[in-house]
Amino acid sequence: MNSKHNIHIESSVEAAAGAAADFWLQCAIAAIRARGAFHVAFSGGSTPKHLHRYLLMDEQRQQIDWSCVYVYFGDERMVARAHPDSNYRMVRETLLDHVDIPEAHIHPIVDDDLLMSSEPAQSVPVLARNYAQTLEEFLPHDSDGRICFDLIMLGMGADGHTASLFPETSILDEDKRTVAEVYVEKLQAWRVSLTFPVLEQAHQRLLLVCGEDKADVLAKVFTHADEENYPVKRFAAMPDSHWFLDRAAASKLGEY
Ligand code: 6PG
Repeated sequence: MNSKHNIHIESSVEAAAGAAADFWLQCAIAAIRARGAFHVAFSGGSTPKHLHRYLLMDEQRQQIDWSCVYVYFGDERMVARAHPDSNYRMVRETLLDHVDIPEAHIHPIVDDDLLMSSEPAQSVPVLARNYAQTLEEFLPHDSDGRICFDLIMLGMGADGHTASLFPETSILDEDKRTVAEVYVEKLQAWRVSLTFPVLEQAHQRLLLVCGEDKADVLAKVFTHADEENYPVKRFAAMPDSHWFLDRAAASKLGEY
C-alpha cells in the first residue's frame, strides 16, 4: 500500500475488491459502534459487483448488524428501477436482496412514476431535488450543518469521471446543491448525481478502480499532470480517499 495517497494495489480485481470490502466493513463497524448507524452511498457500473460478492461471504457478512445500514446511491441513470442499466437494480441484485436491511433504510434516486410522468428535462430536476431532500432528512449533519456520509463508494471511468461527474459537464461547477441533474452529451443521457461538495465532505471515500483501460488516466490523476481535467483527480490526494486498484489499472503509476 502506498501510504502517501492511501493506495492499495492488489494482484487482481478480485483481490482489490476483497481489500475494498474489508475497508468497507471497517468503516461500517466504526460508524455502528460510534453512532448505531452506517450511512453509505453505493457506486454504479460493474466493478462494485466484485466488492458486493465479498460482503456476502459468511466471514464478512456476519461482522455487522445489517439492520444498522442506511443505503443511498452516488448517482443514477435515468431509467426505471428494474431496467438492466439501473445502478439501483445492480446493487439490489448483487447485495441488498441478500442481507437484512430494512426497506425503509434503502433510498433509491429514481421514482419510476415520477420519471415516467413527463419528459426527462422536466422530471429529472424534480428527482434531483427530491433526493437532496431525502439526504437532508436521513443523513447525519456535521458541525457546519452539512450532510455527511460515513462512506461514499466511487468508481472511475476511463475518461476520469466519477459518480456522474463527467469531464466538461455543468455539474462540475455545482458548489451549492448536494444533488444535481446533468445531461451527458457523450452518453446522450441524463444522470442524477451527488455533487463535489457532498463527496468531499464525506468521512471516507472508497475508490475501486480496476482494469487496463483505466491505467492511462489513473497515472495522470496521480501525477497531477494538469493537461487534462479529470473530475476524479479532486480526490487523488485527499486524506480520506482510499484507492483500491488492481495491478492492471495501476500499471502506469510508476513509483507508487
Ligand atoms: C455509473 C457509475 C460510474 C462508474 C464508472 C466506473 O453510473 O456508471 O456510477 O461512475 O463508477 O463508470 O464503472 P466500472 O467500475 O464499472 O468501470
